[in-house]
This record gives sequence, structure tokens and C-alpha cells, in this order.
Amino acid sequence: MPDDLFDFGERVERYAVMGNPINHSKSPMIHTLFAQQTNQSIEYTAIHVDLGGFDQAVGNFKASGGKGLNITVPFKEEAWALATERTDRAERAGAVNTLKFVDNKILGENTDGIGLVTDLTANHGCELKGKRILLLGAGGAARGVIAPLMEQQPSEIIIANRTPDRAVGLADHFADLGQTNGCRISGSGFPGLEGQQFDIVINATAASLKGEVPPLPNELLNDNAVCYDMMYGAEPTAFMNWATNHGAAKVQDGLGMLVEQAAESFYIWRGVRPDTKSVIQTIRHSIAPASK
Ligand code: ATR
Repeated sequence: MPDDLFDFGERVERYAVMGNPINHSKSPMIHTLFAQQTNQSIEYTAIHVDLGGFDQAVGNFKASGGKGLNITVPFKEEAWALATERTDRAERAGAVNTLKFVDNKILGENTDGIGLVTDLTANHGCELKGKRILLLGAGGAARGVIAPLMEQQPSEIIIANRTPDRAVGLADHFADLGQTNGCRISGSGFPGLEGQQFDIVINATAASLKGEVPPLPNELLNDNAVCYDMMYGAEPTAFMNWATNHGAAKVQDGLGMLVEQAAESFYIWRGVRPDTKSVIQTIRHSIAPASK
């Protein structure tokens, strides 16, 4: 019997997320929900990759017919290096979270920043234009979101970090982008925040992982300030609790960003935009503590 007897032209195309660790990734659930909703024939799995084995793992996935990958910690910089073509945004970020295989090319994009901006603006109605933004942290998570934030034309972005030199270096790396739209960007340590107020504070440090909050001055928030933690979990993070206790008008975690960056990857691969609101609700429900 010919193999293609039951082939109705709807081949299941394969995608995956690679990282280390990867077992708690929500990406397979998110993309499976997107695919069901948009009638796309895809399979999406999570692949644990050993340190030092990234290029090989991507090569194997591609050779076996895989169409695209999401890349998470700690391989985003290696994915950037492996991409044969990158968008301007990815180029500048120095990190890639989305790979698409087209013929012999490996296209690299970073959708983290678009995910953050979409969640803030479309899901939470938070206008960024003309605002003073404080970005906490100067690692890969911060770096990936700076260019898309600047595109929204805030009046100023200040990056504050435990190691001040990293914040200053990161600000210098993006400073020229602000020359076209008037967004100033600078870096400092946490003590440099004394006496300053912000409209939007985004936590991109890894402090929440340890239940810690960077040492922030008490009078940091303007009236109507929005505080956003790029982390998420069943309970509010330590930074979110700090924000609530210091008068933030709105406090959000990063679950919406996770789903929005995934939606952007899905669009890059499939050319279809899924509805994110219902998926955010489903994922939120799935991480909620079981009710007694
Ligand atoms: P990621 O890719 O997640 O950003 P990273 O490059 O290791 O990871 O960066 C982690 C960020 O969290 C850094 O800005 C780090 O500050 P340093 O550059 O000074 O190391 C910050 N960070 C981690 N733990 C922190 C803590 N307990 N308090 C404040 N900042 C913290």
C-alpha cells in the first residue's frame, strides 16, 4: 500500500523548545492550544539539551524535518550565533529565542520584547509613550526587551543593576537607537535611584527566583505607576509584593509576556495570529494552586 494513501496534504510539521532545564516549560501547552485554535497541523515538544550540545541538537532536529524552534535559557546566545540571518531586533539583542528553518537558512528572531510590549499595551492598557521606565537588571532578560521598549518612544529608560557597570554598558549599547525617537537611556546601580520616580518599573533580574527584591528606594513610584515582573508563578513574586506595598496602581507578572512572545513565534512560523487572551486564561488556571 503506498505510504501516501491517507495523506490528505496535511502533514504534521514539527516544532520544539530547547533549553536546560526544560521540564517545567509551558511552551508545548501554549503552542498546542494555538494550533488547536487556528487548525494548524503541528506537533510541539520540549527538548532537554546538554550544555555543550546545542549546535548538535539543533542540527539533528533540522535534519529530521523540524521546521522551527523556541530557544530558552541558557542557549539564546548560542542560537544567535547559529542563525544565518537575524532581524535587526535580534541582531541588537545578541540573543535569539525563535529559529525558523527555511531551505538551508536558519532565521533568528527575538520575540521576548514584543511579547512584553504587547502584554503591557494590548492586555493591560499601559501606554509607554512619553513615560519614564525603570528596567531592573542587565542580563539577557533585560537585553532582549530594550529595543522594543524604545520603539514605543518612552521619554526615558533607566537600567539599574546590582553590578552598575553592566547597566551602563547595556545602556551604551542601545543609546544610538534613542537618537531617532528622543528616548534617553542610561544605566546605574540601585543607590543611583534615590530621589527618582518612575511611571513603569519592569523587573528583569533573577532576584525573584530566590524570593528576593533588589534594594529599591521607598519613594520610587509615581501616581498610577505600573510594576511588571517578567517572572510568573502561582503566587505573586517578591517584587510584586514590594510594588503592592509601595503604592503601585497596577502590578502584573510575566505570564502574559510568555504567551505573547509565543504568539509572535507562532506567527513567524505559521503566518497565523492566535487569540492570546483565552490561552493566558488557560495557562493561568493551570498554574493556580489546586483548590481544596
Ligand atoms: P538572565 O538571562 O535571566 O537575565 P543573567 O544574565 O544571569 O540572567 O542576569 C541576571 C540578572 O539578575 C542580572 O542583572 C543580575 O545582577 P548582576 O548583573 O549584578 O549579577 C540580577 N540579579 C540576580 N540576582 C539578583 C539579586 N538577588 N538582586 C538583584 N539583582 C539580581
